[in-house]
Amino acid sequence: MRELDIKKIRSEFPILDEIVHGKPLVYFDNGATSQKPRMVIDAIDNYYEHVNSNVHRGAHALSDKATELFENARQKVQHFISAKHREEIIWTRGTTESINLVAQTWGEKNIFENDEIIVSTLEHHSNIVPWQLLCQRKNAKLLPITVKPNGELDLAHFKSLISSKTKLVAIGHISNALGVINPVEEIIQVAHENNARVLVDGAQAAPHLKIDVQRLDCDFYAFSGHKMFAPTGIGVLYGKKELLDSMPPWHGGGEMIEKVSFDGTTFNQLPYKFEAGTPNIEGSIALGAAIDYLNQFDRSELANYEKELIEYATEKAKSIPELKIIGSDCNKTSVLSFIMEGMHSQDIGMILDQQGIAVRTGHHCAMPLMQALGLSGTIRASFSFYNTKEEIDLLFEGLEKAKTFLV
Ligand code: ALA
Repeated sequence: MRELDIKKIRSEFPILDEIVHGKPLVYFDNGATSQKPRMVIDAIDNYYEHVNSNVHRGAHALSDKATELFENARQKVQHFISAKHREEIIWTRGTTESINLVAQTWGEKNIFENDEIIVSTLEHHSNIVPWQLLCQRKNAKLLPITVKPNGELDLAHFKSLISSKTKLVAIGHISNALGVINPVEEIIQVAHENNARVLVDGAQAAPHLKIDVQRLDCDFYAFSGHKMFAPTGIGVLYGKKELLDSMPPWHGGGEMIEKVSFDGTTFNQLPYKFEAGTPNIEGSIALGAAIDYLNQFDRSELANYEKELIEYATEKAKSIPELKIIGSDCNKTSVLSFIMEGMHSQDIGMILDQQGIAVRTGHHCAMPLMQALGLSGTIRASFSFYNTKEEIDLLFEGLEKAKTFLV
């Protein structure tokens, strides 16, 4: 097994050489979006310089080439998450759109008055609001699983909520705000024992964990390209074939039809039934390139290195008495979410930014979680495998500096 060469990895991400406010960029906002390696940027350039054409139109060489690259990328995604069938991979704009697709197709067909949908208090708004809207339309109930003070999901509460009324459990694989890894395997098993379907929001997991949807046995899995080194505007919905087949189409338009007449329209087979309109062709191809990039590595080596980073940061955090980690002593990855007692998170974020250090501050699109923890927000440093311990040292120097201004 070869050693990870972090210097070489960093050289493959051009943006990491940027100077921000006169200081070398320290990018710790990977939970919001990841940076892109040269291989992904080149895939986009190559597409526009040599291939650009519409897919599935088949009348000329460029269209054939674009279709081949586009469908190869779908196959790369299939292998990336170990899906059984290629047609279980639906291109979307991202995790949010994937979840809305399920809510507005599977949900419209399967949720009725007094049915229950379980989510967790840890969820990103994208895995709450589509279900809230569906429950309002259907007069169904949305039940949140509570969270323990350390940020862990309360599994006992989940088990007390689930019943024959539960039709769906929608759960994040990793919390974006705290980095807590949820026990999705157990949740899926319990849900299935109760005949409920499970959607996993994998937006934060895809860049850090090896995903195997068949082993997980989840019914739906949603993730975004841009958090896993691909561009924005491309994402994936995985669904079990029999479920996707049974769902009504969502957006109407080109590609999703079989035959259109004023007497009625019949719909295309999977996955095209859910892919109306010209898709994000270069996004799909670039997501395929991001998967090729990741496949060069042993994913567990990347995960171990990221674990080293979070452990190093957690240890360093002890040197600042005002710093309180939110989400601690639990199974977590790559996120140091914290508050600095007596100081505003936004002020800290601004002072760090002046030193070239990018973090996110605020509620992280997880307002119910912040309410449950009695916080208005946190400071979140989210790591990737191109980050270093030296950068973490700079973060803590920055926090010491912020203290001198704010205390
Ligand atoms: N969901 C993204 C985040 O956690 C935007 O920052």
